[in-house]
Amino acid sequence: MLEKRDLCWLLKPVSRDEIKTWFMEDRNNSRITRTIEGEMPRLFYGISRSQKDNASIVLILTDDGSLGDEGYSIDQKESGYEIKSNTQKGLLYGIFGLHRLLLGKKERFPYVSIPDQNYRMINHWDNFDGTIERGYSGRSIFYDHNAFRGDMELIRQYARLLASVGINAVSINNVNVRKYERFFITAEYLKEIKKIGDIFTAYGIQLFLAIDFAAPISVGKLSTADPLCPDVASWWKHTVEDIYRIIPDFGGFVVKADSEHEPGPFTYGRSHGDGANMLAKAIRPFGGIIVWRCFVYDCTQDWRDRSLDRARAAYDLFHELDGEFDENVILQIKNGPIDFQIREPVSPLFGALKETNQILEFQITQEYTGHQIDICYLVPMWKETLDFDTRHGASSLVKEAIRQYSPDQKLSGLCAVGNVGMDRNWTGNKMAQANWYGYGRLAWDNDLTSEEIAKEWLDLSFELTEDAREKALSILITSRDTYEDYTCPLAVGFMCKPGIHYGCDIDGYEYDQWGTYHYADREGVGRDRTAATGTGFTKQYSPRIYQEYEDINACPDKLLLFFHHVPYTHVLQSGKTVIQHIYDTHFDGVEKVKEYQARWESIQDELDEESYQNVKERLDYQLKHAVEWRDQINTYFYRKSGIGDEAGRTIYN
Ligand code: GCU
Repeated sequence: MLEKRDLCWLLKPVSRDEIKTWFMEDRNNSRITRTIEGEMPRLFYGISRSQKDNASIVLILTDDGSLGDEGYSIDQKESGYEIKSNTQKGLLYGIFGLHRLLLGKKERFPYVSIPDQNYRMINHWDNFDGTIERGYSGRSIFYDHNAFRGDMELIRQYARLLASVGINAVSINNVNVRKYERFFITAEYLKEIKKIGDIFTAYGIQLFLAIDFAAPISVGKLSTADPLCPDVASWWKHTVEDIYRIIPDFGGFVVKADSEHEPGPFTYGRSHGDGANMLAKAIRPFGGIIVWRCFVYDCTQDWRDRSLDRARAAYDLFHELDGEFDENVILQIKNGPIDFQIREPVSPLFGALKETNQILEFQITQEYTGHQIDICYLVPMWKETLDFDTRHGASSLVKEAIRQYSPDQKLSGLCAVGNVGMDRNWTGNKMAQANWYGYGRLAWDNDLTSEEIAKEWLDLSFELTEDAREKALSILITSRDTYEDYTCPLAVGFMCKPGIHYGCDIDGYEYDQWGTYHYADREGVGRDRTAATGTGFTKQYSPRIYQEYEDINACPDKLLLFFHHVPYTHVLQSGKTVIQHIYDTHFDGVEKVKEYQARWESIQDELDEESYQNVKERLDYQLKHAVEWRDQINTYFYRKSGIGDEAGRTIYN
């Protein structure tokens, strides 16, 4: 039987013919050096340590400012390959890079690779009981039944997969910090956490923990968690000292405060600057970082009050704090202003925050995007965000702005909610591995195309002929649009089942407290967020973007209903009416899933049986899901509007 580790993109070693021996100059005994020694024979089959003279891979520590702390170069020499970096970590990335290049048959030497983003982080939403908030691949690889799972080999496999795509930071517990996890910052738990941290360290990955802002009360038994109370600051100082005594290379804290019932500084009438800076001062002497989340909004809204707008919340709160955070605080900003929908505008905070360290948060786990049942390759969406032109100043693209406007550029980058679990293939649907792989590759190299990344993943994961690879690729590349087609017309989000966020329930959130309304009535649909007649959210963008979104005729079709309430007969830039667009995309979405099934079946002979069946089963389920969405949405809007489908297709009434 295949081991779990065999079902991933590091399965194939490069063959004996291509690589024979290797040599490392300037050997030292760091943990990463030992990792490299262990990895070389796994990645390059039949390899053994040897003398320099006949070495086929030479690893060299160099002193080349252009490579930075993590970059590497690979050159082809007569006797083999030479990998150079300023650090051991860079050499580790270099051997994974060479492995990828050789298997992808894309050798272009000399090859130089330097990461575009400094932080390339994964957040786990794993709970100590073994469940994973929004996890769709089985239980946690770290915990089970309020204990540490203790499978260190599994964690090592995970760390090597992360390092192979350049991930350099990881937080290992849910941002909603529960009963036991609050105590992760105490000695009893830290001893176990250190074992996990040591494995990550050996792969160049820093360990973070999510904390409970009210830990001075829940853990420390103080009467308050007020960030301006000296006893609270002193409690955190001592707590942090204990952490670093046990885990000297600890990365820092991830904090979700005043959000979705989590405690925070607002309880004490303090600002988020007060909260974050107090923690920052406690951890700074040890080089630690506070990652402070901007996902803060009122989740007890009155649906009757149309002046309230959840989309405004992060900007309203954090924009005025720009420049007030300590130098070791990083703000973590979700890609969109609401919550990881399949289609949202980019958060207006990007480009607008100019004096604050910042990281952009994506969601790899497919919460609103198909639960790793439906295929939904998310890299195209992430690229749109990174390439979005904020039109704020010189560095106007998001991917540049997050670095450029961070006072300490080393404290900027990307982060994403992870998608792995105990399932044998790590991600439930094997195709969802492409998102995990893709996130890492894109975070490292922002200019890779979605296609390049998908091809790489396919080449490393399967043995496909050109034709079969094209078929699999065409499924991945179009899957985001397909999912959008049958779930989210013109950026109306949240028509999903409340709580679980899978399956169609058009009015599920309509009269609820979460602030996510579509306002469909018999005349039209959409949220008016204009400055002229709506909530004024459009004003949070730079003047040029504001003008575009504010103007109903200039606003891109894809975002129309996010910004405007329009009649069903409104004619889109595409020339179609809104109602016809809704019908067409929902019928098309189902047809595309049927095509995916046919394409997948047609390449069965080239796939291993396990992967074939795994994806086939999920495609069957995806089709049922898409049909249900199609029929419910079409019927709902037909009943509201009374307008039929121009093409006369079946709409149940
Ligand atoms: C979403 C998700 C929650 C999660 C939250 C967050 O709202 O549904 O489960 O806790 O995001 O990012 O904190």
